[in-house]
Amino acid sequence: MTGQYQPPGVLSVLLSAEGIQQRVAALGEKISFDYRREVQEGKELVVLAVLKGAFPFCADLIRCLHLPLQVDFIKASSYGSSTKSSGRVELTVDTKLDLKDRHVLLVEDIVDTGLTITFLKEHLRLRGAKSIRLATFLHKSEATEYPVEIDYLGFTIKNEFVVGYGLDYAEKYRQLPYVGIFACER
Ligand code: IMP
Ligand code: MG
Repeated sequence: MTGQYQPPGVLSVLLSAEGIQQRVAALGEKISFDYRREVQEGKELVVLAVLKGAFPFCADLIRCLHLPLQVDFIKASSYGSSTKSSGRVELTVDTKLDLKDRHVLLVEDIVDTGLTITFLKEHLRLRGAKSIRLATFLHKSEATEYPVEIDYLGFTIKNEFVVGYGLDYAEKYRQLPYVGIFACER
């Protein structure tokens, strides 16, 4: 594509903007179909995007959902370097929505080791959600140490560090409309 911004450090484009949009639309159709009888006005689906990385994916996904829903954000931090997590997770932003007996769709950018999502799912369970399903844009299946049930998956990728479409390196590159492989030391 002409005029595409490819910053230094982004070695190659792994997933094109067009390919991402097609996949997100397909996921939206599937999710809309699956929840068609479970949610209604007054008991809307609660879509919880995991900050910060999931915001572009969630923004595109909800516009492909033909369902009554409410959107909110949740944030968990795992401490470590820019490219490697430490194995400890802490909830830093929670939703004020009452989750009791609600169907919750958790929207994440990437499942890497699976630690963050394992932690967040347990948190939502304790808050009384009726069901919790996970939509993740990416999955690094070779890196996953904590078994995670993924209900809706964008793409499986290799164990490489990627940026774009919400994913960052040191808070940069989230704005790229594509996913690129990033040159960094792990
Ligand atoms: P997990 O807890 O190991 O599954 O890590 C999940 C988090 O690590 C994601 O939400 C991302 O913030 C971050 N992460 C893992 N792999 C990548 C990557 O390739 N690029 C950018 N962020 C990543
Ligand atoms: Mg993240």
